[in-house]
Amino acid sequence: MTPTWVQLTYLACAVCFILALKGLSGPKTARIGNIIGAVAAVVAVIIPFLYLDLKHVPLILVAIAIGTAGGVLGAQRVQMTQMPQMVALFNGVGGGAAALVALLELRELVPVQDSVNWFVIVATAFTIAVGSISFAGSIVTFAKLQELMTSRPVVFPGLRYVFPIALATTLVLSVRLVIESHVWLGVVLCLVGLLIGLLLVLPVGGADVPIVISLLNAFTGLTVAAGGYVLSNVVLLVAGTLVGASGTFLTLLMAKAMGRSVANILFGALKGGSTLGAGVASDRPVKSAGPEDVAILLGYADRVIIVPGYGLAVAQAQHTLRELVDVLIARGTKVDYAIHPVAGRMPGHMNVLLAEAQVPYEQLIEMDHINGEFKHTDVVLVVGANDVVNPAAKTTPGAPIYGMPILNADEAQQIVFMKRSMRPGFAGIENELLFDPKTTLLFGDAKDSLGKLLNSVKAL
Ligand code: TAP
Repeated sequence: MTPTWVQLTYLACAVCFILALKGLSGPKTARIGNIIGAVAAVVAVIIPFLYLDLKHVPLILVAIAIGTAGGVLGAQRVQMTQMPQMVALFNGVGGGAAALVALLELRELVPVQDSVNWFVIVATAFTIAVGSISFAGSIVTFAKLQELMTSRPVVFPGLRYVFPIALATTLVLSVRLVIESHVWLGVVLCLVGLLIGLLLVLPVGGADVPIVISLLNAFTGLTVAAGGYVLSNVVLLVAGTLVGASGTFLTLLMAKAMGRSVANILFGALKGGSTLGAGVASDRPVKSAGPEDVAILLGYADRVIIVPGYGLAVAQAQHTLRELVDVLIARGTKVDYAIHPVAGRMPGHMNVLLAEAQVPYEQLIEMDHINGEFKHTDVVLVVGANDVVNPAAKTTPGAPIYGMPILNADEAQQIVFMKRSMRPGFAGIENELLFDPKTTLLFGDAKDSLGKLLNSVKAL
């Protein structure tokens, strides 16, 4: 029986996790939310040492020390653009750890199976299967994003048959495990789970991988929750459920913001052709200008909206952009940043990037709130963004982004695009706005161009 003080402390930790999630939902409270969650996690790790008669304590401490060192070093060294693969790695080890714990618990449960609640065995089978899927899938997503393997969809002729067969095998093995409870069934289930993880993620194209990471994160959450049930640990149960629910919501929200279904993202390559590909650069004529001309446009505008996108993150130009905006504001221009929910390559990418450059939160305006403002705007400066302002999302049925809500940059008086070439964005399709008579292109790496633009505006 778990002592009352332990149960109460676990309850407090669970409440802290909920408060942490609430805090993380806004940029102003995210830091404190993160701290609350981290403190609760540390307390939850310490508690078992205080009331359980643990075996192998030195080994556990060594494992904790290695994990902590890896986590701290990783978090300190990782670049903002590498954050998705870091999340993938953490998520994978979480799922793998839950599957291993369940396998070990199975060894304890089997000899006393008659007196064990069958639901515990169901939860154990679930943890082994889904934890292994999450582990293998997350490792592939990491390898794709870290460019350790091709980021293009990997498909082979029999995939559409192998995948359902593997799924059916998992189901049969799980049922047999519940009925017969042999440890070897658990091991085979784990191996088939690893295979499913590989088959699930290999056909996904590199740019869709962040959504799959979020889905696998939801899987890991459910695995940990089931593991909490197996171990009768309330805090694991609550934390896992929170991760499972938030991961599911995030996956659905991201898919909705991209105007695509989760099934299309996961299985599009199997049906053929629906995975977004790298498009070709257009050779149609466009109007381009140098930094001095764009500086004049910006310097004499009353209202400017900045549309940041993936290219801003690639160029790491957020600090120079903030300097430019500061100078414009000092000249009396009203300037805001328009934040599209899927600009960049991970949820909240632009918020995090601009927060790093200490852009005040009040200047970051979400799409729904700023879309009505574009028609009163003199100049829209699109910095390394493309799909999030592409009118094809409204006008071209059949385009991969058709139905995706976009920023109404086309309604402004003047539009300036900063990009390096005429290559399309992630969706691989041409952007008609680049050829609009109101549009000017400032070609070059965003950091380089913004530096020149900043000097030119200062010299006005
Ligand atoms: P994109 O449509 O991908 O456009 C990025 C633009 O940046 C390109 O036009 C590229 O043109 C330019 N660029 C790249 N490097 C640059 C550099 N160093 N300097 C200047 N420009 C540079 O990006 P977006 O508008 O942010 O849209 C995001 C897309 O990613 C959407 O289609 C979205 O659905 C998808 N997506 C988002 C997420 C999340 S959760 N955010 C996850 C997966 C996929 P050049 O090559 O010509 O420079």
